[in-house]
Amino acid sequence: MNLRKIMYSARILWVTAAILGVSAAVSFPAAASEPSGTIQPLTLGDSRGPGASGSGAPPVSGSAQGPGVTGGSGAQGPSIYNPSGNMLMDSTPITGQEVPMFDGGSLTMLSTQTGAQMLSVLLQSKEGGLVVVDGGWEGDADYLLQAIMARGGHVHAWLITHPDFDHAGALYNILARADSGIAIDHIYVSMTTTDWYYAVSSETAPFVDMFRQRLALQPEGMVVDTISSGYQIPVPGIQTTVLNNAFFGDASADAVNNSSVVYRIDMNGVRMIFLGDLAELAGNILIQSLSQTELKADIVQMAHHGQSGVGKAVYETIAAPVCLWPTPLWLWNNDAGSGYGSGSWKTLETRGWIQSMGVTRNYVMKDGDIILR
Ligand SMILES: [Fe+2]
Repeated sequence: MNLRKIMYSARILWVTAAILGVSAAVSFPAAASEPSGTIQPLTLGDSRGPGASGSGAPPVSGSAQGPGVTGGSGAQGPSIYNPSGNMLMDSTPITGQEVPMFDGGSLTMLSTQTGAQMLSVLLQSKEGGLVVVDGGWEGDADYLLQAIMARGGHVHAWLITHPDFDHAGALYNILARADSGIAIDHIYVSMTTTDWYYAVSSETAPFVDMFRQRLALQPEGMVVDTISSGYQIPVPGIQTTVLNNAFFGDASADAVNNSSVVYRIDMNGVRMIFLGDLAELAGNILIQSLSQTELKADIVQMAHHGQSGVGKAVYETIAAPVCLWPTPLWLWNNDAGSGYGSGSWKTLETRGWIQSMGVTRNYVMKDGDIILR
């Protein structure tokens, strides 16, 4: 059995765990993401992380904790430390007693259906507006469609941070369906030339080509691919501002991640920033380009699933009291298959940053669907 088949088998186990997983509905005080063929998540991977260890796939073998463990600090044994040896916080417990913050709206971060890292968020305002951020892999499409249907089936704005499989794969899949059962008013995306993608990532470039071709088949005016810094996207009850020009000046392994569009979204009095998979270089450009006032937010989506994304200074500038982690359990624990800390992702270091900043509300995809009201 070659590595791909092993990883695929592991995926089946993780999908089963996801099906058995829990959903967490929380709220809290308002104080303060036509070509044929399908995309195979675990063979293509989101590899613009720390070298070969940056794969978006779950580890081949199960961790000591196993999938589906919701990660109470007591359940993880004694090794809940970051590389500095400091004991780490875990995700925020759900009490059900919190005060609603969205005044009738809701934020939902969907759980992974493949076991791999991904980003899929739905925002629904009390005025009935519905925004989707990214959507996950092709393997997340059915689950996402169910969630959209449950919210009325009408997406006013679909925001793509960057055209990677684990972000745009679900939309790519849904757009191929003769009748997906939902309506999409507009899709927002920022991409550059095909040559650039082939120059920086031979892994991602073929998907970008397929995604681009599928977008070209949509009705005129539906796809908006000219967004840049300051662009406004109005939806009933939800105001989105594009905060950057997608950065295509990078030639490193993080190039596609660094091309993420950063969206600032205001809904029912709450300000959120979605960083997509932004990495260190474009993160530094972001905080050099904008004032702290423009970046201060109530909720931040952790860049690149909490591993090897932007630097700590970006989180310090945004200074959000609530962190949204699109992070499966194996990645949360930096578990490459041999237990806690066995991988080389930087999730533990990032958790240490956030902990040192005093953030006490961390909502993590590993705990199932996260619903904030
Ligand atoms: Fe990603």
